Amino acid sequence: MSITPTGESRHEKKLQHQPITCLTAYDYATARLLDEAAIDIVLVGDSLAQTMLGYENTLSVTVDEMLHHTRAVHRGVKNGFLIADMPYGSYHVGTDEAVKNATRFIKEGGAEAVKMEGGEKRADLIRRIIDAEIPVAGHIGLTPQSVNVMSGYKVQGKSLNAIEQLMRDAVALDRAGVACIYLEGIPREVAAMITAEVATPTIGIGAGPECDGQVLVIHDILNLTFATPAKFVRRYGDAAALITDAAQAFRDDVIAHQYPADRESYHLPKETQQALETVLERKRGMQR
Ligand code: KIV
Repeated sequence: MSITPTGESRHEKKLQHQPITCLTAYDYATARLLDEAAIDIVLVGDSLAQTMLGYENTLSVTVDEMLHHTRAVHRGVKNGFLIADMPYGSYHVGTDEAVKNATRFIKEGGAEAVKMEGGEKRADLIRRIIDAEIPVAGHIGLTPQSVNVMSGYKVQGKSLNAIEQLMRDAVALDRAGVACIYLEGIPREVAAMITAEVATPTIGIGAGPECDGQVLVIHDILNLTFATPAKFVRRYGDAAALITDAAQAFRDDVIAHQYPADRESYHLPKETQQALETVLERKRGMQR
């Protein structure tokens, strides 16, 4: 089946049990490479607060910062479905402001959908945003924007009450008409139950293999986080080693006068070189 960015295609994939792929990207080059690798969904996650901007958590990243990265990613994505995260504070204060901010991600950022964290309690707001012709992705389970309320990044949905709440959240998002539901940091058994219950495709991160799709943070899979990876992360490359080795090799070459070589230098055109030599010779003659 060909991969198209339409919602219909994601739902078809769910029905046909074809896994949906999603990775985060925050810049043009990465977005382009992911798109060329036929990744279905490119997510400009607010994880960029940590991965790109070095903040401690996702709480301080602003709409303008997210938009800056979304625009860059948009220029690199031709085929994939582009989702941008609404950052903390951009949809928590009032409905009108949330709709206005969501609109900016579509108009100014080039995103095709916005993602926001929270389940049941966000359903009305999500309906309003969908009413404004903006597809919305839901995100439940371990929701990093709630880090202070959750007292840290902990696996969610471990008690019967918590499972019941997660099911209610997923069903509320499903009924609100979200494009997909991100399930983060929950037991695989719970993710499997949610995935079986809702018509909306689920995309898991630390939520086990039964989800309709999987997402990972690009910096996690490339060893670019300077931290011990979470249990669910699989490293597919070592960009840290690649960058360190290249930087050290460059430094060694420069210090040893091995870079740049003549073949890496520009040269004057022959006529200019000859004319220059004549001028210099004349100058030297005058100085004698
Ligand atoms: O911000 C992000 O990267 C995310 C993914 C982890 C789903 O929300």
